[in-house]
Amino acid sequence: MISKKMEEALNNQVNKEMFSSYLYLSMSAYFDSKNLNGMSQWMKLQSQEEYEHAMKFYDFILRVGGQVKLAAIDAPQTDWESPLAIFEDSLNHERYISKSIHEIMDLAVEEKDHPTKIFLQWFVDEQVEEEDTVQQIVENLKMIGDSNGGFFMFDRELGARSAAPEAE
Ligand SMILES: [Fe+2]
Ligand SMILES: [Fe+2]
Repeated sequence: MISKKMEEALNNQVNKEMFSSYLYLSMSAYFDSKNLNGMSQWMKLQSQEEYEHAMKFYDFILRVGGQVKLAAIDAPQTDWESPLAIFEDSLNHERYISKSIHEIMDLAVEEKDHPTKIFLQWFVDEQVEEEDTVQQIVENLKMIGDSNGGFFMFDRELGARSAAPEAE
């Protein structure tokens, strides 16, 4: 059984992961509107992954006898200046999520809540992975700059990469 404080922290994380899913879906729609189908596809898969993250927290809360309390999801941004701006926003968002997960981990350590610590370990690893992936995309986009050809190729590359299941 988890503490009330932990239950609240985990419920907040469900909301943050749902917001991530919503944000990435909004980014996917933006890419689609600019005919960047590879990037749109990549972001749509990211959005689905974030929904799965929310459900991992949801299932864990129930499994340890807590109560799931779903809250309103904030509206995400709908417009961006450029694909680079989107991926920079995404990187900042992932850093914010990592910080949030680390804070819950700190609470679990403080409360000697071993089941939650073990559960969170997967997310700590996953965040390292996600930050690294998005950071690479940001750097690639910076290198491509204004090259239309490079941009076109990179859009196709992102579309192809996301078609393969990601290793966990
Ligand atoms: Fe996530
Ligand atoms: Fe994420």
